[in-house]
Amino acid sequence: MNELLEKPQQITFDITDRCQMQCVTCSKWKTHAIDVIDKELTTEDWKKVLYDLRNWLGEGFWFCFSGGEPFLRSDIFELSEYAHGLGIKVASMTNAFGIQHLYQKIINSPIESLNISLNAINNPDIHDLSRGRKGSFEKALDAIMSLKKLRDENKTNLGINIATIILPENLEEIIPLVEFVTRNKINGIMFQLLDDKESFHGYNVQKGCNTQDYQMPYELRKKYLVMSKRAVEIINKLIEMKRAGHSIYNSYEQLDAMKVFFNNPDEIIDAIKCDVGSTNYAIDPYGNVRLCFNMEPVGNVKENKPEYIWTSANSQHCRYMTKSCKMYCRMLNCNFKGNFVNFNTSFIKKVKNKIFKVLTGKC
Ligand SMILES: C[S@@+](CC[C@H](N)C(=O)[O-])C[C@H]1O[C@@H](n2cnc3c(N)ncnc32)[C@H](O)[C@@H]1O
Ligand code: SF4
Ligand code: SF4
Repeated sequence: MNELLEKPQQITFDITDRCQMQCVTCSKWKTHAIDVIDKELTTEDWKKVLYDLRNWLGEGFWFCFSGGEPFLRSDIFELSEYAHGLGIKVASMTNAFGIQHLYQKIINSPIESLNISLNAINNPDIHDLSRGRKGSFEKALDAIMSLKKLRDENKTNLGINIATIILPENLEEIIPLVEFVTRNKINGIMFQLLDDKESFHGYNVQKGCNTQDYQMPYELRKKYLVMSKRAVEIINKLIEMKRAGHSIYNSYEQLDAMKVFFNNPDEIIDAIKCDVGSTNYAIDPYGNVRLCFNMEPVGNVKENKPEYIWTSANSQHCRYMTKSCKMYCRMLNCNFKGNFVNFNTSFIKKVKNKIFKVLTGKC
């Protein structure tokens, strides 16, 4: 085993690929329930994963339920309780479309951080169009406000965060979203760069895409080009707002990197080293483990213990391949760790130093 290899820092349970939205940026919703439902890990399978992770990583680490839409799995609460009992901290992402009947359950659960996706605030149509379902804005906003009210009434510590993709269509919504967060005392907001919708969930790989000679699709490059000037202005404003105390989770380093990216996406390939191989541990609904979501799985938790997979030859090979990868998903939040759940401050400090070194060529 490589002596320098640390334990993973960002653990994701994609508990289902199923989803009720039809986001224009994502392909997950094309999964048919009938094709996958019998193949998903069971509640007991996930509990075993949690148990094994706890034995390996000790108490106090965070993991995040994602997907697909994680709240489509009704055992999310049972799994959260189980994780909590083992001393593991639970976060979740959600599109908030079908959780209206679950508000009180969420408040009573050990979920400590809930990241609700919201792509607009002044113009509901922008959010609805990006999510492919009319009424999704109303539901996401209701979830944010109702959960906040319940959280305050019940005096619990649930962190309520907003997750927003920066799109050509929502550029003028970005600053109002931050103002909304501050005005309503939402815990914080996290911006995500728009990624290629096929590679975003590794679908490119299934079609034979090679990460080593990836070419950004022309349509996506055109989108970045069209928005670049205004995007840089807005990111400058975000930096100012963050300095002034608005709760923007993205690090200054990531915001700076976004500006470099919008000026010329290709510069990022040499400037930012993708670190997913030494930090990420993503488990898909069928038990496959990926360090990089655009490469083949490195193992399956049904066959091997999580720790064995992390140190396996497959994982070492994946880490080696990340070094010469030519994809742009290194700009996503999973490569700017401390951002995402924003809990572990010593870890954030470490990551910040590292990104600073990458940006200044001092590594
Ligand atoms: C894949 S979703 C899973 C959780 C849940 N279904 C949701 O939408 O919040 C996680 C996050 O990825 C974002 N996302 C979707 N497509 C994206 C893309 N092409 N590039 C970057 N982020 C994307 C979503 O907006 C969401 O905030
Ligand atoms: S981004 Fe989330 S809500 Fe949208 S299709 Fe993908 S998994 Fe579903
Ligand atoms: S940039 Fe990182 S996450 Fe994206 S394909 Fe390359 S190694 Fe994987």
